[in-house]
Amino acid sequence: ADPDPLQDFCIADLAKTSTPINGFPCKLASNVTASDFIFNGLAVEGNTTNPFGSNVTAANVLAFPGLNTLGVSMNRVDLAPGGLNPPHHHPRATELDIVVKGEVLIGFISSGNVYFSSVLREGQMFVIPRGMIHFQMNVGKEKGLVITTFNSQLPGAVVAPLALFAAKPAVPNEVLTKALQVDEGVVQLIKSKFAASS
Ligand code: GLV
Ligand code: MN
Repeated sequence: ADPDPLQDFCIADLAKTSTPINGFPCKLASNVTASDFIFNGLAVEGNTTNPFGSNVTAANVLAFPGLNTLGVSMNRVDLAPGGLNPPHHHPRATELDIVVKGEVLIGFISSGNVYFSSVLREGQMFVIPRGMIHFQMNVGKEKGLVITTFNSQLPGAVVAPLALFAAKPAVPNEVLTKALQVDEGVVQLIKSKFAASS
């Protein structure tokens, strides 16, 4: 989904952000070494000790500047038994998942409100079309691991519960009570659940 590159590579210089551009400026080619094309961050298991029981480790351009202008990135999603990577969507990328470990329920909801889902095991893949709300849930008894890949160097992630209930400044209660057709107490209760995480 990203634009095509105009050179072989453009290792992001993340510090040079004073002039806003679409992406990041390139590190001087004479300073580029093999290490600019290597990232070890996905080798490390994420800490799933949190209310969702999940952890996403990103290998996007911000973590791995070598991806700048190349239109690809990956995440590592660790899931404790019962853990959930909560419903979210990526405004800039299609997502391709491969289950590496465990039994994982993966689902997305289309813009026609059709729910597509399946329980996947090691080696099985699931494609999430760009922009669709989706999640991964570990329905097995062991740890789950999913590697997710994107056709964007920075897919972005809008996490539905956090967007609605943990935005800063807050979305007004009267918007949420009307949208969800519930009383204000319900909205306040849900907001309180996410107060610490925002
Ligand atoms: C999983 O959905 C991810 O965005 O890594
Ligand atoms: Mn995703």
